[in-house]
Formats: sequence, structure tokens, C-alpha cells
Amino acid sequence: MELTAAHDDDKLVKKVYEIYGSVIRERKPIRNPREMVKVLREEYKLIVDERVVSLVVAAFMAGRPVLFEGPPGTGKTEIGEAILTLWAGKSAFILPCSENYDEYRVIGDFHPLMALRYGFTEDSFIPRPLLAAIILDAGVLVDEIRRSSEEFQNMLLDIIDKRRIVVPELKRVFRARGVGFQFILTSNPEDIGQGELSDAFLRRVVRIKFDYPPPDLEAEIVRIRYDAGAVLPDELLGKMIEVVGILREKSAYKPGPADTVLWARIAGRLAELRGSRRVEVRDLVEAAQIVLYKRVDEEDVVDDALRRVFGG
Ligand SMILES: Nc1ncnc2c1ncn2[C@@H]1O[C@H](COP(=O)(O)OP(=O)(O)OP(=O)(O)O)[C@@H](O)[C@H]1O
Ligand SMILES: [Mg+2]
Repeated sequence: MELTAAHDDDKLVKKVYEIYGSVIRERKPIRNPREMVKVLREEYKLIVDERVVSLVVAAFMAGRPVLFEGPPGTGKTEIGEAILTLWAGKSAFILPCSENYDEYRVIGDFHPLMALRYGFTEDSFIPRPLLAAIILDAGVLVDEIRRSSEEFQNMLLDIIDKRRIVVPELKRVFRARGVGFQFILTSNPEDIGQGELSDAFLRRVVRIKFDYPPPDLEAEIVRIRYDAGAVLPDELLGKMIEVVGILREKSAYKPGPADTVLWARIAGRLAELRGSRRVEVRDLVEAAQIVLYKRVDEEDVVDDALRRVFGG
């Protein structure tokens, strides 16, 4: 369902609905953890532990943002976005952080030509996602928070704490209108180029640790995401998970479930292209060479793992 313009004579609120109304979809909010788990699986094809969902819901009820921390490809971003969407009953906003993210990029700025014409007023002000989120009462996923500057993090904390955004140039304060305006932040502390999070920051968030799933759960994740026509036999899927398990121990590039899913999907396509109705070891090995080879000096490690598990 599309968001319809608010019955509001506030110019800026109207503008937010005009800009974001057609991309933000409304749906029935779901805030019961058990039901959320079911919808995450059925609609979003995400397998999420009820414990994780309950922790997030408890944090939201206590008005706290949640930090998802863990290795790449473990579903932090997709799960965060989906939970925020279900909680608020409308699509979440995503802020993909980088060093030069600042208030002008997330709250709003003035269009230079319009400012010349109309001055620094609401007419020339362009609202950005964070301001839109507070006005539309939507959730915000702050992706890769460690890539942002300390200044940006402090600005976020102030907004999260006080549930309001101040735009001094317009002499305006925008307050959260409901409970939909919540935050999930993601981070992978082991990735390159990651900054530290300050104690002030950590004090305010609750942290949920993500990790590689146990083998049976990873198999379920691959199954739910597998979309090729060729059958992927259980036995081969088990072996794929053994291979990624070995690489997580031995290799510097550690494949996440996202890599396992991609590996399976490409192998499935290769089998189809060969006119085969069933994925064979050959498809898996060839797909591994494009999905799991990440660094030239680690190709041997991948080959060794494949040989150990598949033989040959
Ligand atoms: N629990 C899960 N349920 C379903 N799919 C999953 C799950 N975990 C990982 N995946 C797979 O991984 C992909 C999502 O990974 P996502 O980008 O959300 O991970 P991430 O932890 O944010 O990684 P990064 O640290 O690289 O940003 C999905 O598209 C899916 O293929
Ligand atoms: Mg991510």
C-alpha cells in the first residue's frame, strides 16, 4: 500500500509525503515476536531466531536502539530492515554510512538555486531520509555505523535520545509522532577501515551479536533462498556447508551464509545450463571457483577444502 499525503497543512510535512510517499509502502504493523518470526520467514525469506526478535522488540519498547554486530553475510542488514518495517508497519529508511555522512545528507539541506530565489526557507529546503523517517514515523537502519564519523554518531545519539530533530535554519523542531521511529545499527568490527564506537555510544545501544549459523540452520537458509530449477541434493548441500566451515577456520576471507547461498544459486544455474535436472559435484566446484575464490593467495586454501570434502 502506498503512503497517501497527510492531511496536514505543514509545507514541509507535505513535501516529505510528496518525495517519499510513493517509495515508502505501508503494511499492517506486527509487533509480536512469534508472529514476526513467521512473517520474516514467509514473506522475507529470512530465518531469524525468536530470541533475537524478542530482544529487539524489548529494546524498542524500552526506547533503545539496537546494534547488530557480527561477521559479513550473516543477515544483519536484511534482518534489521525487515524487523524495522514490520514494527513500524511501513518500509524502513536505510542510511549506508560513510566517513563523509553528515547532517546535510541525512536531515536536509537547501537547494542552492531555490535558496537564491526563496531565501533559506522551507520552500528551498530538501528533506533527507532521517527527517522523513521522523515525520512518517518509520524505522531507520543505520548500516555500517563504524564507517561514520564520531560527530555523525553524536548527532544520531542526540536524535535517538530525545526523539526529535532540530533544524536551526528553519527554527523548527520535529518530534517523533509515534513508536515507529526506531533504530537498528549494523557493524562488523573485524572488517577493514572500521572506527571505534565511543563509550557514550555503546552505553545507549543494546548490542546483539550475530555469528555464523550452525550447519542445520545454514542448510535451511540456503534452502529458503535457493531458486534454481535443478535439484540440490541434501547430501551435496551438507558438503557445501562443510567446505564453508573449513574456510571459516583456515582462510582470511571467511564466507558468510550470503556466500553459501550465492554458491548454491550459481551451481544450480550451471546445472540448468548443462541441461541437467540435478546439481552435480562438477557444478559446485566450478561455482566455488567464482564465488569462493576471493584472494589470489587463498585459491589453494579453497581448492584444498573442496578436495577434502568432495574428493578428486
Ligand atoms: N538468517 C538468514 N536468513 C536468510 N538469509 C540469510 C540469513 N543470513 C544470511 N542470509 C543470506 O545473506 C544475505 C543477507 O546478508 P546481509 O547483507 O544482510 O548480511 P550482513 O550481515 O549485513 O553482511 P555485511 O556485513 O557484508 O553487510 C541474504 O540475501 C541471504 O542470502
Ligand atoms: Mg550489511
